[in-house]
Amino acid sequence: MEILEALPTGVMLADSSGSVVYANGTALGYLGIDEKGLEDINVDGLTERDSARKETLMRTRGNDRITIRLSQAPLAGGGSVVFLTDISEIHQLQKEILKMDKLASVGELTSGIAHEIRNPLAGIKTTAQALNEELPPNDHRKAYVSRIIMEIDRLNKLLLTFFDFARPRELSIHSCDLKKIIENAVYMIKDSARESRVQVIEFYPPKKVQLRADPSLMQQVLMNIFLNAIQAMDSGGRMEIHLNDRDDHVEITVADTGKGIPENVRGRIFDPFFTTKPKGIGLGLSISYRIVKMHSGIITFVSGPGGTTFVVTLPKDPVGAG
Ligand SMILES: Nc1ncnc2c1ncn2[C@@H]1O[C@H](COP(=O)(O)OP(=O)(O)O)[C@@H](O)[C@H]1O
Ligand SMILES: [Mg+2]
Repeated sequence: MEILEALPTGVMLADSSGSVVYANGTALGYLGIDEKGLEDINVDGLTERDSARKETLMRTRGNDRITIRLSQAPLAGGGSVVFLTDISEIHQLQKEILKMDKLASVGELTSGIAHEIRNPLAGIKTTAQALNEELPPNDHRKAYVSRIIMEIDRLNKLLLTFFDFARPRELSIHSCDLKKIIENAVYMIKDSARESRVQVIEFYPPKKVQLRADPSLMQQVLMNIFLNAIQAMDSGGRMEIHLNDRDDHVEITVADTGKGIPENVRGRIFDPFFTTKPKGIGLGLSISYRIVKMHSGIITFVSGPGGTTFVVTLPKDPVGAG
């Protein structure tokens, strides 16, 4: 019995009617009950609940959501033994893989469409430019043609965003000064911040933070997060950027005083094309998510009525990044 107690796997013994006669500490922990609570449990009820997969979502006492795989084996003398394995991590990984798959197929689709649009667009632009040249210099219609060309350029930029999204990019990893990357990203969004009357405040640790990463992709991630923060503050506000050095990893937090992310959309903001903005595309965060993943990092956020804080966590030396 002492050996059973020490096992990191949950073990329960049941008699032939399914009543639990013994459960080790790990099993009790997974079930979130104490010895007394065992009286209410019948193992046949547990494993039959989802006989196809024998996986059950449970909460521990600490209220963490965990996924437990149950497997039941009959014992020779009647009764049975039930093993409980915590497969939360596997479950989480499966979800991540599904998300990456979804991103990849959206990428293929958009790059296909973007390609089809780019060629005729180039034709339209050439024609518009030719027309522009045919018109006499002071012709008032020149303004119309310029407008057409301007809108074509805008579309072209949009298409480039799609290509960026689709391209299975090779990372170009260097050792970089993270403060410089953040400063560059801040520089790029300075005008938008000023227009929205958003005060940008940066906090850096005294020592230089060196990190192996793709600087231009990292800058893209930060710009996306900064712009979202600014766009969440219609009537001005404050964006705080903190860089924290944590030995083997770094954290960049971006806190805004904006309107927050409504609870019912929080699960979807990283989905491609999910947007709540009239002129949004909804690719910023899904691209950022992918880039950070490629660096073996994670993006998380907390949000409330007082604003939103995004945290990008990156290992200093991403695995597999040559
Ligand atoms: N800092 C933030 N504050 C409030 N909402 C945010 C914030 N960042 C992201 N969001 C939400 O996530 C959605 C998706 O963001 P994103 O992928 O960048 O696409 P887009 O900015 O084009 O809408 C936004 O439309 C917005 O609803
Ligand atoms: Mg955005």
